[in-house]
Amino acid sequence: MSDTFRFSDALDRVKPSATIAVTTKANELKRAGHDVIGLGAGEPDFDTPDNIKEAAIQAIRDGKTKYTPADGIPELKEAICAKFQRENDLSYTPSQIHIAPGGKPVIYNAFLATLNPGDEVIIPAPYWVSYPDMVLLASGTPVPVECGPNAKYKLTPEALEAAITPNTKWLLLNSPSNPTGAAYTKDELRGLADVLLRHPQVWVMTDDMYEHLVYDDFEYFTIAQIEPALFDRTLTVNGVSKAYAMTGWRIGYAGGPEKLITAMRKVISQTTSNPCSISQWAAVEALNGTQDFLPERRAAYQKRRDMVVAGLNAAEGLTCPTPEGAFYVYPSCAGVIGKTSPSGKVIETDKDFAAELLEQEKVAIVFGEAFGLSPAFRVSYATSTEALQEALTRIQRFCANLS
Ligand SMILES: Cc1ncc(COP(=O)(O)O)c(C=O)c1O
Repeated sequence: MSDTFRFSDALDRVKPSATIAVTTKANELKRAGHDVIGLGAGEPDFDTPDNIKEAAIQAIRDGKTKYTPADGIPELKEAICAKFQRENDLSYTPSQIHIAPGGKPVIYNAFLATLNPGDEVIIPAPYWVSYPDMVLLASGTPVPVECGPNAKYKLTPEALEAAITPNTKWLLLNSPSNPTGAAYTKDELRGLADVLLRHPQVWVMTDDMYEHLVYDDFEYFTIAQIEPALFDRTLTVNGVSKAYAMTGWRIGYAGGPEKLITAMRKVISQTTSNPCSISQWAAVEALNGTQDFLPERRAAYQKRRDMVVAGLNAAEGLTCPTPEGAFYVYPSCAGVIGKTSPSGKVIETDKDFAAELLEQEKVAIVFGEAFGLSPAFRVSYATSTEALQEALTRIQRFCANLS
């Protein structure tokens, strides 16, 4: 490539995914023979259930291997409408459903279809790493609003009110959250809905990807269900990746106003076209088939969450709140900032903490700066109890050895 070749300005607006960078670095160390424990991954360690795999195999045998309508087959749209009705009390019709190759492109398609330069998107921080970059790629302006541990990592009505300007186009909610696991209660959503009712120009995108992963009898609600007056300006995003352990199958979906869904169809029809036909048939089975495995998996995650929260709180200088859902915790490492590791390195930031932890104890976590709230880090507990126990021992030893 010649030196004069120029990449796009859009590319300059984004940074590479920090979570993928951590996984890459951990894999490099593993290949070099180190005993690395990766707590960076954002995917279930469980397998896709057999009934879903069988549906995919059957789809291949039946020759369902051709192009489909760009934003999904009618059978999956029907299954999604039934899911929204059954689980969220939301009445969407198939013309209000968008299906794309993962939850990520659903969100990106919505931003591409709606954002113009100057349009602001309110993003509670800490946030999933991709949100601000997707907004930037689509020419919008991300407006992060810090929601620290004192606010239980959740947006308050006061903070929302203060962040809204005449340029606000979207509020982006994520419950349960990646990276904190925090989930909004019915009352907390009511408080946010009341603010939104005063600002009719603000639309709501809610990323409900971890809906099924909530613990301790937490009752899950999504915002359009709480306030029907918001239904016509809410995009309810969900997918099969996390609940059904189908990250590699690439199916995400959303329900929203028909005008928005039509605009998103225009985007997908000129970019990726349809998500994999076989995966779509597998997703029909995921949504329509047995849900019996969910409580069992939820119980396993809850046990790991409790173990991880206790283990992290037992480490000197770390404080870890107990989140309501997802498979992440987000401990503060404020208590170790300024300390020195046995190698002589001073821990000045959460990035230093993560780098030294990987170097000294071969435990991979993702530093908080990547999620927009420091000093903290994200631990994914979607891995075996044995690996988690060993990782906690190493983290405790690492913190005890700081001086
Ligand atoms: C909050 C959140 N939303 C969306 C996604 C994307 O899901 P998918 O793999 O279906 O694109 C993820 C995946 O990590 C996520 O954590």
